[in-house]
Amino acid sequence: MLKNKVPNHLAIILDGNGRWAKSKGLVRSIGHKVGAKTAKDIISYVFDKDVKVLSLFCFSTENWKRSEEEINYLMSIPITYFSKYEENLIKKGIKVIFSGDLSKLPLNTKLACEKISLKTKVNDKHILNICLNYGGKDEIIKACKEIANKVKNNIISIDDINENVFENHLYSKDLPMIDLLIRTSNEKRLSNFMLYKLAYAELYFTKVLWPDFNKKCIDKAFKEYSLRKRRFGGV
Ligand code: IPE
Ligand code: MG
Repeated sequence: MLKNKVPNHLAIILDGNGRWAKSKGLVRSIGHKVGAKTAKDIISYVFDKDVKVLSLFCFSTENWKRSEEEINYLMSIPITYFSKYEENLIKKGIKVIFSGDLSKLPLNTKLACEKISLKTKVNDKHILNICLNYGGKDEIIKACKEIANKVKNNIISIDDINENVFENHLYSKDLPMIDLLIRTSNEKRLSNFMLYKLAYAELYFTKVLWPDFNKKCIDKAFKEYSLRKRRFGGV
């Protein structure tokens, strides 16, 4: 049997926690709690399969529209999660980085994120890119402002601006382009996620709600990815 191709950079829009909870008569936060456990299992599984970079869309610039109770719960997850799994992440050689404007997060959440980045900084087997208070449009505008400033201060000229320079101003600056995007819960849109880095990604949508997503679902997605013919505009 042919081995499935594995994406070098896998991105996931983990969606459906609230609907999962509602379908069971539970509050939305329970969906997030189970969803965090799913994330832990999937992170281990895909890195064991040799995915190099995993980007997870955990909280968007638009998610602040939710209730205070739900936001508080979501903001508590990084605090419990990273202290519980710090050792595991280090043992597996996983470097944890963040994309998004962390300055707007509650202080304890921000500190937990900074702490895990620092503790895993030297790891080089895999990269876990957690997108928190992240928006694709926000990322592109941030890059434009920084580049415009460099032009204004004569650090670079307009003619120097190319893909390389632009990419260096993204949150995800050191990451490769995304190979495969998975979105759960039967929604078929990008919702402002990694607009630049998704330029040539294969898109995979599944009806499964994130708390129910498991290893078999990853196998199925990778199998389909293996069958895709990626031509990058060529023939
Ligand atoms: C995904 O589940 C988790 C986050 C975006 C924080 P949702 O909370 O979006 O769940 P639904 O879409 O309401 O079911
Ligand atoms: Mg949703």
